[in-house]
Amino acid sequence: MKRFVYADNAATTPVSEHVFEVMKPWLTEFYGNPSSLYRIGQQAKNAVNTARAQVGKALNAAEPINEANDRKPGEIIFTGSGSQADNLAIRGFVEGPSNRGRRHIITSKIEHHAVLYTCEALEKEGWRVTYLDVDKLGRIDLDQLRSVISDDTAIVSVMAANNEIGTIQDLKAISEIAHAHGAVFHTDAVQAVGHMPIDVQAMGIDLLSLSAHKFRGPKGVGALYCRKGITLKPSVFGGGQERGWASGTENVAGMVGLGAAIEDAVSGMDEKMGYVRRLTDRLIEGVMKIPYTHLTGDPENRLPGTASFVFEAIEGEGLILRLDACGICSSTGSACSTGSLDPSHVLMAIGLPHEIAHGSLRLTLGEQNTEEDVDYMVESVTKVVDGLRAMSPVWVNGRPDLTAASNLH
Ligand SMILES: Cc1ncc(COP(=O)(O)O)c(C=O)c1O
Repeated sequence: MKRFVYADNAATTPVSEHVFEVMKPWLTEFYGNPSSLYRIGQQAKNAVNTARAQVGKALNAAEPINEANDRKPGEIIFTGSGSQADNLAIRGFVEGPSNRGRRHIITSKIEHHAVLYTCEALEKEGWRVTYLDVDKLGRIDLDQLRSVISDDTAIVSVMAANNEIGTIQDLKAISEIAHAHGAVFHTDAVQAVGHMPIDVQAMGIDLLSLSAHKFRGPKGVGALYCRKGITLKPSVFGGGQERGWASGTENVAGMVGLGAAIEDAVSGMDEKMGYVRRLTDRLIEGVMKIPYTHLTGDPENRLPGTASFVFEAIEGEGLILRLDACGICSSTGSACSTGSLDPSHVLMAIGLPHEIAHGSLRLTLGEQNTEEDVDYMVESVTKVVDGLRAMSPVWVNGRPDLTAASNLH
């Protein structure tokens, strides 16, 4: 029987009932502007600072709010998205007063475009950027980092966990290398926060980006953790909100929602993520029974809900559309989103051959999924892959025929 299964939690997650309830009064009842001096304005300002403290606590920030001056936030800066937090962290740091003349940036080849395009833009403006390689499991090469870092390196920006293949990086090791050369360490933890433990102090993180909609909070609100003592150049100029680094009247309900969602996500995380991991393991076991299928990413150090595969002799887009017809929401790293048929930069960076990278599928589970969902997905993916291969010119006598593939190009 056809079901509806949402298995694209890395793209976004549904707002939880609890978060929704907590947000509502800040839209309808206490709608004041936090900069206003009358009561509902001040209530809104206090709510924003409570949310700030919740975010800081979840990350173990040392000084999440500024006790001495509540108009000047401490280490948590709210932004309009994870992308804005990434942009503010990298550009804001290298162009800001805390960077004393260093001109080199290090990042990795598998970052989200919010990081990669920021680095590419800075490169055009004269900054030197090194894009670190990753191995076939998606882990950055720490020796390569040691060999390229220098006293001219301003910032090392490496994501905590990858959005396509789920591989988790060794954040502490990276921060130690960065700090040994006087560079700061930024991590895009948009996929990681709420799904794995993060402790900015223990991990030596100076700047960290997160986004509420990846852990059952609302879309359009993110945050940047910025270690005390670091000063950034603002990304938006205006009313001076968020220490002047992210001006604009606060999205009070969104920030309150972020605070509640992060608190919910970290409480009982082990148990919830243990459940999600068991579901994901069951899914991987089932899907890997399909012949000529490969798991992508690190089988051990990966996000608990991420299952990503490539199927030989399959086109990712066809897969997604047919799974949608089965009621399953999934994604592929090989959509021709920009009109080009290139597979994603992540699948290329882990060294997958073009023709195999085209058949990628990402299923990302959350705590709202069930074993029945998983079994239905295994059955549907198996059926859809069989059906697509039966029509594929590069599937010959029950196996992929790469000579047929090369004839097609
Ligand atoms: C790793 C990573 N960084 C940044 C972002 C951007 O976050 P937002 O959608 O809040 O702009 C995403 C979103 O998918 C992501 O997966």
